[in-house]
Amino acid sequence: MSDGSIDLKDAARAEAYATPLEEFHVARPALFQADAMWPFFERLRKEDPVHFSKGDEETGPYWSITRYEDIMTVDTTHQVFSSDAHLGGITIRNFDEDFVLPMFIAMDQPKHDIQRKTVSPIVSPTNLAKLEGIIRERVQRILDSLPIDEPFDWVDRVSIELTTQMLATLFDFPWEERRKLTRWSDIATASPESGIIESEEARRAELMECLGYFTNLWNERVNLTEPGNDLISMLAHGEATRDMPPMEYLGNIILLIVGGNDTTRNSITGGLYALSKNPQEEAKLRADPSLIPNMVSEIIRWQTPLAHMRRTALADYELNGKTIKKGDKVVMWYVSGNRDDTVIENADQFIIDRPQARRHLSFGFGIHRCVGNRLAEMQLKIVWEEVLKRFPKIEVLEEPKRVYSTFVKGYERMMVRIPERI
Ligand code: HEM
Repeated sequence: MSDGSIDLKDAARAEAYATPLEEFHVARPALFQADAMWPFFERLRKEDPVHFSKGDEETGPYWSITRYEDIMTVDTTHQVFSSDAHLGGITIRNFDEDFVLPMFIAMDQPKHDIQRKTVSPIVSPTNLAKLEGIIRERVQRILDSLPIDEPFDWVDRVSIELTTQMLATLFDFPWEERRKLTRWSDIATASPESGIIESEEARRAELMECLGYFTNLWNERVNLTEPGNDLISMLAHGEATRDMPPMEYLGNIILLIVGGNDTTRNSITGGLYALSKNPQEEAKLRADPSLIPNMVSEIIRWQTPLAHMRRTALADYELNGKTIKKGDKVVMWYVSGNRDDTVIENADQFIIDRPQARRHLSFGFGIHRCVGNRLAEMQLKIVWEEVLKRFPKIEVLEEPKRVYSTFVKGYERMMVRIPERI
C-alpha cells in the first residue's frame, strides 16, 4: 500500500481486533488525533457494547457506552447518571478538585433547569430570526475576502473567524478583541499534552484573565436600567444568576464560549472535508441546493464535534447485562452511537440526502440536550448557501491536522485552494 494514512488505518484495525477486550482503552487522545479509533468502537459495539476499562492515569477506570440505544438510555436517565462538577463533571477527565468551574452543563436538577432557562431566550425562534440577517452578512463578508487560486487554512480563515464573530455577537463582546474568545475556548478544553498551553498553571492563569475581562463587562451592564439582549446582560439581570459566585460566572461563560465555538467551527471544517472525500455527494448538492438543511444534519452526525459526554452513577444500574456501580464513571461515546448501523443504515457513509438525518446523537438527549442546536444548524445552512453562490469548487489540498483530544473532535488546520469564483 503506497498511501501512509491507509497503512495507519490498517494498523489500527489490526490492533483493535488483536487486543483482548479486557485490555481495551479507547479514550486515548493520540488515537483520535490519528482518526484511528473507528475499528475499536466497531468491535466494542459488536462484542461488548457496555464495556469496562481500567483506563490510565489520565482517565481512571471508566465504562464505555457505544451503542445508540444504550447512549439514549444513559442520557435520558439523569436521576441516576449525574453531570455534577463535584463528582467529576461531563468529560472523561475529572474537573480538578481545587479548580472546579460550576456551569449548568455540569449541574443536576433543580439548579440546572433554573440556570438553563435564564440563557435560553438567546436562541428563541424570534431571536434566531433576528440573528439570521447578521450571520448571513458576516458569512458573505468572510467568503468574499478569501484569496483565489492560492492555498490558505480554511480552519483559521473561515471556521474560526465565523464562529468567533458569532460569539462576539451573542456576548456583545468588544469587536476588535474577539480573538480572545477563540483563545479562551481553546484553552478551556486543552490538556498540557495538547501543545496549546504550557502547563496547568498557565491555563488557570489565562482562565482567571478571562474572568477578569468578563467581570468588567458584567459591571458595565449590571446597572443599566434597560438591560441589553446579550448573554452577559441576561446573566447579570437574571433572577437565578445575578448573585452567582465569580467562579460560577466564569464556568457559565466558558460553557457558552466552548458550546458555541469549537463545535460549530469543527462542523464547518468537517462538512467541507466530508464533501471533498465524497465527490458524488458534492455533485448532488450542486445539482440541488435544497438538500442543504438535510446535509447540515448529516454533517453534524458524521463529524460528531463532541465525541463524548460523561456521567457519574448515583446508584447501581443494570445496562445491557452489565452492572454499573454507584460512583462509576460512565462515558457515552456519541461518536460511536452515530456509527451504529443497527439504527442508522450505512452509518459510516456520508449521504447528504439520508432519510431522518436529524436522528443523530451529536446534540445529546434529555435535560442537557444542546441549547444552541438550532443556532448551529442555521449557521451551517447559511455557510453552504453562500459558498454555493460563490465558488464552483474548493479543493482540500492535504489531510487536515486533527485535535489531540477525546472530547473535542475537530481540526487544527486544513489547507484548501479555491480555483475561481463563479
Ligand atoms: C450542550 C453539542 C452548538 C451551547 C451540548 C451537549 C452537546 C452539544 C453534546 C450536551 C448534551 C448532553 O449532555 O446531553 C453541540 C454541537 C454543536 C453545538 C454538536 C454544533 C454543531 C452549540 C452552540 C451553542 C451551544 C452554537 C451556543 C449557544 C450549549 C450549551 C449546552 C450545550 C449552553 C448545555 C446545555 C445543558 O446542560 O442544559 N451541546 N453543541 N451549543 N450546548 Fe451545544
